[in-house]
Amino acid sequence: MARKIALTGIQPSGTPHLGNYLGMYRPALELAADYDAYYFIADYHALTTVRDGESLTRNTYEVAAIWLALGLDPHKATLYRQSDVPEVFELAWALGCVTPKGLLNRAHAYKAALDANAAAGRSPDDGVSMGLYNYPLLMAADILICGAHVVPVGSDQRQHVEMTDDIASWFNNAYGPILTPPEAIVRDEVALIPGLDGRKMSKSYGNVIPIFAPPKEQRKLVMRIVTDSRPPEEPKDPAQDNLFNIFKHFAAPGEVAEVRARYESGGIGYGEVKSRLAELLEESFGPARERYDALLSNTPHLDEALAGGADRVRAVARPLLQRVRDAVGTGARL
Ligand code: TRP
Repeated sequence: MARKIALTGIQPSGTPHLGNYLGMYRPALELAADYDAYYFIADYHALTTVRDGESLTRNTYEVAAIWLALGLDPHKATLYRQSDVPEVFELAWALGCVTPKGLLNRAHAYKAALDANAAAGRSPDDGVSMGLYNYPLLMAADILICGAHVVPVGSDQRQHVEMTDDIASWFNNAYGPILTPPEAIVRDEVALIPGLDGRKMSKSYGNVIPIFAPPKEQRKLVMRIVTDSRPPEEPKDPAQDNLFNIFKHFAAPGEVAEVRARYESGGIGYGEVKSRLAELLEESFGPARERYDALLSNTPHLDEALAGGADRVRAVARPLLQRVRDAVGTGARL
């Protein structure tokens, strides 16, 4: 039986942190064992915010290197650059023609821009590009061009996948059952990884621990995780502790249970947990960091891997797009 398809995209925008890893990379790597994985670098989505071509190019290589360093097997999974798949952009146009404008008006990112403008007394669409507005359409095309069944994403992207589902229905209602409605996979247990200060780990809060930071630097950041000032003897609720809420994702289940019990009974100090977390991070990411550095210093190899991925995804995208063209009337000839 053919395997189902899992697809996800990551914008090329700088170094990933533990929150990205736990919320995105790790679940996607796990899914790749059971699904046909199509994982791509959403470089044209990044164009909505990045204005510096050189850093976009560099960040694109970085994301490719991250996937490979973390163990994605490019012979089993399909790793590619969105911009290498012209079929995506043609499909996006066709989808736009069946999508009510009102749907895109409701997108969270667009609404946030409207709210910010209203609060600042600016005109509603100030600073809103058509790229930002159409972002969900391009994302729908990414997903639908591969016939993806599941889309592992962070909770902030759930709405986009639901919109994709709606868009596929409108298209199919108009033209017949051509597009596969996708389903988001959002892992709630990793939706909220706390950062150094306890707020959600996010680049915009400056509270991140990068997965590939040099060991010393990574350890220093771990030591900066904010905890309360209770002494080791005092019993503590592990669920309330930022440190434990990061630690529990990296230690083996037995160790998590043991440390949890010591929080609850009293008798564990934050310093000890921090030291252990730093060790665990080095175990998780040390070898991958070395592979990452090696991969990034060999961009022709990355080009080759991405070109192979592009060939594979286009072998799926071309016939799908042909069916769309035939259905809408741009592909058929009298
Ligand atoms: N919007 C996603 C993000 O910012 C990236 C993305 C683009 C994506 N196209 C996609 C994710 C298709 C899943 C499927 O994280």
